[in-house]
Amino acid sequence: MKEKIELLLQEIENLKCNTEKDIEETRVRLLGKKGEVTKLFEEFRTIAPEMKREFGQKLNILKNKAAAKIEELKENAASSGTEQSSSTDTSMPGDPLPLGSRHPVSIARQEIVNIFRKFGYDVAEGPEIEDDHHVFESLNFPPNHPARDMQDTFFISNGHLNPLLLRTHTSCVQVRAMESMPLPIRIICPGRVFRNEAISARAHCIFHQVEGLYIDENVTFADLKQAILLFAREMFGPDTQIRMRPSYFPFTEPSAEVDVSCNICHGKGCNICKGTGWLEILGCGMVDPNVLEASGIDSKKYSGFAFGMGVERIAMLKWQVNDLRHYFENDMRFLSEFSHCVEV
Ligand code: PHE
Repeated sequence: MKEKIELLLQEIENLKCNTEKDIEETRVRLLGKKGEVTKLFEEFRTIAPEMKREFGQKLNILKNKAAAKIEELKENAASSGTEQSSSTDTSMPGDPLPLGSRHPVSIARQEIVNIFRKFGYDVAEGPEIEDDHHVFESLNFPPNHPARDMQDTFFISNGHLNPLLLRTHTSCVQVRAMESMPLPIRIICPGRVFRNEAISARAHCIFHQVEGLYIDENVTFADLKQAILLFAREMFGPDTQIRMRPSYFPFTEPSAEVDVSCNICHGKGCNICKGTGWLEILGCGMVDPNVLEASGIDSKKYSGFAFGMGVERIAMLKWQVNDLRHYFENDMRFLSEFSHCVEV
């Protein structure tokens, strides 16, 4: 019995268990109803009375040491947090956080900008609150000219010679560039514009444009056509065709509206292109000499072209969005449809 006690004492001294399960198993093996220490207590009953004193003390020490060691192991396991049977499994993957995605208008604007950047255009920006001079006057809209009605304007201050207003197009950024930048100029002007229009599926009072301007010696209509064709093919696919229809803008002469072949039916006619096979994407033309002269550019030496497009419209055609109002409603079901779109 003496030996058994010594052996168990040694074993308890060297006990090493990490998990709650191991510790509990050890406790049962030593102190449980049929445990080794418990068994020794049973044996104790049968030993000679003169030995009882000595062994009684030893057994009590053994029992106390075993209990203390089990407690110590339990504390260690809890503080090191390594027990695998705990309810937290740190090896599990975390809960996924829902990620937002970029707004389709922002994706389309960036795509347009990237395409023209590849062609060598710089990005120019200007104020959203503008004056009459930069939005109309210097772009060949004389006061009271009916062409001003083409763009319903939000005026901020009325009655002055040069009232403040919310810009109706980003052509005013081009004017600022012509006034201040050295020639040649090759820029695109992305930005938010404002028109006093009733909100519907096809019109909104706030939308985004990207306009472009190229001024140098000997710039011709052929250059304009080539730039637009290359843009259309980058944006809508390599088989895209363009056609130009004569149009009118006060600041360009000649002016044109550009259609691209419908990227849904490839020109055969469908309900997106209303059976025509063509989709209108932008307005453009050769910068009117009056506009060049108003910004101090010699129109005998220099010529240039300009173009302007609505970003929402380009995005509608590219991704078949049928209602402009979707862009402004922040409905997650609509916005998350664009999470897969990658810029070119
Ligand atoms: N500024 C015009 C608009 O907002 C677009 C345009 C730009 C047309 C440049 C021709 C040339 O409608």
